[in-house]
Amino acid sequence: MLALVNTPHGPSPIELREIAEPTPASNEALVDVHAFSLNRGELSSFARNKEGWVPGQDIAGVVRRQAASGAGPVAGTRVVALVDDFGWAERAAVPSHRMAVLPDNVSFTQAATLPVAGLTALRTLRHGGTLVGRRVLITGAAGGVGTLAVQIAARSGAHVTAVVGGPNRSAGLTALGASEVVEGIDNAIGRFALILESGGGASLAKAIQLVEARGTIVVFGNSSTESTTISFADFRGAPNSRIQSFSYFTSEPEERFGPDLALLVSLVADGSLKPQIGAERSWRDILQVAEQLRARRMAGKAVLITAPNRA
Ligand SMILES: NC(=O)c1ccc[n+]([C@@H]2O[C@H](COP(=O)([O-])OP(=O)(O)OC[C@H]3O[C@@H](n4cnc5c(N)ncnc54)[C@H](OP(=O)(O)O)[C@@H]3O)[C@@H](O)[C@H]2O)c1
Repeated sequence: MLALVNTPHGPSPIELREIAEPTPASNEALVDVHAFSLNRGELSSFARNKEGWVPGQDIAGVVRRQAASGAGPVAGTRVVALVDDFGWAERAAVPSHRMAVLPDNVSFTQAATLPVAGLTALRTLRHGGTLVGRRVLITGAAGGVGTLAVQIAARSGAHVTAVVGGPNRSAGLTALGASEVVEGIDNAIGRFALILESGGGASLAKAIQLVEARGTIVVFGNSSTESTTISFADFRGAPNSRIQSFSYFTSEPEERFGPDLALLVSLVADGSLKPQIGAERSWRDILQVAEQLRARRMAGKAVLITAPNRA
């Protein structure tokens, strides 16, 4: 089968090549991958991994063979799934508890946006507890996680302030539920019960000045790659506030992946979560799409289609 193979020492960091079919374990289904999405975190994974490794965490497709254990969806079921890697391939082995069934009105492209970015949006927001009437600040709001988090927070009753990098990045965020859109975190006014912080560096330092007493800053990324220096005195205006680190893979028990994916799918199906598709291209165009994402020219999620006529 074809897969996008890591080639860190070649002329291109990744190449479409023939590789061996996956051999699923007894709890794993074999899934025909129709679409997958690209995450900012995956951009740096090429150089970190060995020649021959296949990246890919977010996949949507059809179960070709049910897990031998009998668990999970049967052959022919449309699904979305989260895998650790080896997702950017024509077929993938998927643990049966890491999938959710797709209703007919959720496309493979929409579904592929959900695993990493959707779970991150959903679960970082849970750190804020009940959000009705609370002020929530979301950095990187125009990005993959951000566009989903804005919508879920607004749907949960929060008053959402969306932070974007420039005037060309604010389009559509008000329609997604943001009460305010500000250019740069320095322009946010007042204090917030919950801050989703992925900029790092000066953005995290400013977030500490904006959190309210007993409020929470969830640190889930470092898009700027800059460090932050903090001191106890920085928290003077927000006693008992906290900084919470976050990793979607370990944030909740393993068995919660399926139910949380199903929850996200249900929100898309009922129209209350609209994945923002910044690019929908053939997987043969992955390098161009990756460059768009790296250069902050992607609004929402980048989705790659393995077989254009199937999606
Ligand atoms: N901890 C976890 O489990 C987890 C899970 C998923 C993602 N992440 C991390 O969370 C962050 C957001 O992920 P994503 O998939 O939403 O990424 P994305 O689609 O690339 O969006 C990132 C957003 O961050 C903003 N940004 C601010 N400063 C930036 C900088 N110096 N360089 C690049 N972007 C900058 C950009 O804003 P503008 O477009 O307005 O300029 C962009 O919209 C990334 O750092 C990612 O690695 C962590």
